[in-house]
Amino acid sequence: MNLFILGTGSLARLCYVRFHQDTPIMVGRQFGAFHFIDRHGQKSEYHPRWIHWGDRPGRMPHVVLLAVKWPALPAVRIWLERWGRQALVVSLLNGMGQETALVPPLDPLQLSVASTTDAVSRQDAPNRQTWATTVTHHGQTFLTETAHPYEERLKSRAQALNLDWVWENPATMHQRRWSKLIANSVINPLSALAARSNGEILTMPLWRLASPLVQEAEAVAQHAGIAISHSLPDIEQLARATQHNRSSMLQDVMDGIPTELDAITGYILTQAQHRGLPVPTHRAVYDLMKHLNSPG
Ligand SMILES: NC(=O)c1ccc[n+]([C@@H]2O[C@H](COP(=O)([O-])OP(=O)(O)OC[C@H]3O[C@@H](n4cnc5c(N)ncnc54)[C@H](OP(=O)(O)O)[C@@H]3O)[C@@H](O)[C@H]2O)c1
Repeated sequence: MNLFILGTGSLARLCYVRFHQDTPIMVGRQFGAFHFIDRHGQKSEYHPRWIHWGDRPGRMPHVVLLAVKWPALPAVRIWLERWGRQALVVSLLNGMGQETALVPPLDPLQLSVASTTDAVSRQDAPNRQTWATTVTHHGQTFLTETAHPYEERLKSRAQALNLDWVWENPATMHQRRWSKLIANSVINPLSALAARSNGEILTMPLWRLASPLVQEAEAVAQHAGIAISHSLPDIEQLARATQHNRSSMLQDVMDGIPTELDAITGYILTQAQHRGLPVPTHRAVYDLMKHLNSPG
């Protein structure tokens, strides 16, 4: 199986480590050997083969694992258009809207949108001369079933490697992704606005926005045909379970790089607008986040 991993960040490295026996090729802007610290604190060093976005891949991709952040999607689209026409593409990005962003150039049957509860963070040196990644939570990965010819190969490989990867039908996955979207639309921007860890935000006055955020998002989901209700206790539980973590949105704000707000809160705003539904709390949070994360 010719396996490619688009991205060289935290999640891409976790994918590399899991599939390293298949010698996957990583695609990114700059990279090198990296240290990987597993959930038992065990440290290993990996020397992946990696290429630049503009390089020829050398072999035709069968399976592509997409593990970039949203701002990379223009580069991803160009790469897939050139090299990914036959491949099964598994998108591990958070947020919603992958189908609109990637089909075309992909055919709908090529795209398996996935959702993972793995948590990995990177500790690269500021000069990018040493690279390191730590697993903070070993979770499950859910993938949308497709009728793609390479899907069975990926399934058997995941099974042989003992990965906690589960394939689900599109309807079940759609529901799962909406649930995750709602959780992300609460924890991510509120933790970024409060500049606090996931656990700390639960005690902040700002957390009072969690309830209207959930209610507004659940109403949008319901209009989209997804029955989700009473998500708030689960979201609070998630924030407690990851209490020491800084959300990815908070980390991006601290690093001064674009967040994935448009694929999370932005997606809810767009869906609400199409349906004429009011989402004033999401709108306010979106505007505040844009102000906080604006360049300069
Ligand atoms: N990390 C997790 O635990 C986790 C869990 C679940 C879901 N996710 C989702 O998985 C996706 C990847 O997350 P991550 O944690 O791996 O992020 P990350 O460590 O920040 O890595 C992001 C990757 O995207 C590349 N990238 C970003 N902007 C780019 C641009 N404009 N052009 C080209 N490349 C660009 C980065 O390249 P450079 O390194 O060169 O900047 C890097 O290879 C996100 O959607 C995230 O929400 C992550």
